[in-house]
Amino acid sequence: MPITPITEDLTTQETAVLALIARNPFIGQQEIAETLGFARSTVAAHVSSLTRKGFLLGRGYVLPPQGGRVVCVGGAVMDRSYRLLAPARMETSNPAEGARSHGGVARNVAENLALLGHRPGFVSALGDDEAGRRLLDHLRGRGVDVSRVLTLPGAHTAEYVALLDPSGELVLAAADMAVFDRLTPEDLLRIWPHFAAASWVFADANLTPEALACLCARQGGGSYRLAVDAVSVPKTRRLPADLAGIDLLFLNADEAAAVLNAPRAASGEEALAAARALCAKGAGQVRLSMGAAGVALAGRGVEALLPAVPAQVVDVTGAGDAAIAGTLHGLLKGRDAVSAARLGSLMAALALEAPGAVRGDLTSEFLAAQAELRSIPAAAGAHGEDA
Ligand SMILES: Nc1ncnc2c1ncn2[C@@H]1O[C@H](COP(=O)(O)OP(=O)(O)OP(=O)(O)O)[C@@H](O)[C@H]1O
Ligand SMILES: [Mg+2]
Repeated sequence: MPITPITEDLTTQETAVLALIARNPFIGQQEIAETLGFARSTVAAHVSSLTRKGFLLGRGYVLPPQGGRVVCVGGAVMDRSYRLLAPARMETSNPAEGARSHGGVARNVAENLALLGHRPGFVSALGDDEAGRRLLDHLRGRGVDVSRVLTLPGAHTAEYVALLDPSGELVLAAADMAVFDRLTPEDLLRIWPHFAAASWVFADANLTPEALACLCARQGGGSYRLAVDAVSVPKTRRLPADLAGIDLLFLNADEAAAVLNAPRAASGEEALAAARALCAKGAGQVRLSMGAAGVALAGRGVEALLPAVPAQVVDVTGAGDAAIAGTLHGLLKGRDAVSAARLGSLMAALALEAPGAVRGDLTSEFLAAQAELRSIPAAAGAHGEDA
């Protein structure tokens, strides 16, 4: 097919070279020469002419940002809730007030991290539909890198629909999460440089066991640390039996009991014992949460029972996800495990005190000010004044 110059300033040959570079900015001059049937020296002349004319701004290798990059992989969900205006009547239509919000553990963690000043990568599978576009637009607007999200034609974006009675108690919920099963290890391997360049990868158990195993095994290479959230009791079945690939495991007392096939921890000491048992199954470190009773932390030379940060609870959604984001934020800022976990508990309290899963008013300055106000101890040796 003949190539027409895109402007009068370019020759046909220069246009052809520019088109190849635009398609693959990493292409070598030899490859351009072979593709177009030019001599390599001709390509070199065209490249320098394109640079002189301002159509190319430079070349070079792209390095990951300094200070650690985090990639979140897992669920992005359109949450809908309908509050009935009168007590539920089955098998008929009930008048209700509807609301829509964005959820999914990995999505919530990514949004929180972006609000705290990071530029997290986000990987998930969405349908090619209105819900998917809304979820993506919102994350993009927050500064999350959504360039590796998989949009699957014909699939539905994950949805969670809750029916609440007039007092706000759940009557019935439906969850359509089938789209996450379509995120395969092959999909992850195709975008692997995204993970390999990360210092932390956070994955939730919305992923299939195969996808989680691929990340645990670092199948495409890489030295990232892997944090995983168990999400829910049924989804703990997706975690590998050998937790050795997981550097930091987040779960609550019910999820820990399911993984260990043991009774639910009923005290701080029992929670600590459960966290230790999870480390014995291979996890590097475990953050086991017990709601208002706080957190048990075990592994890699750390053992602590941390109290919850007292909160005036307005909305419980997103507390666990905020805790994960706060902990990762602390670790990315060079804090030690205990101090990072405390920051996680503060983030949980802040999430509990506001409606919705993610606080839109969150910033790292706000977090630092709240840490000071609520006397959350800073880490010994943590660098930076930033919380
Ligand atoms: N009433 C509360 N007051 C203060 N902190 C709380 C309260 N409830 C939970 N938290 C904190 O919220 C975080 C999440 O803990 P929780 O045990 O509720 O996890 P979860 O059940 O997995 O929650 P989620 O469903 O949000 O993931 C923890 O850091 C915990 O200490
Ligand atoms: Mg949770």
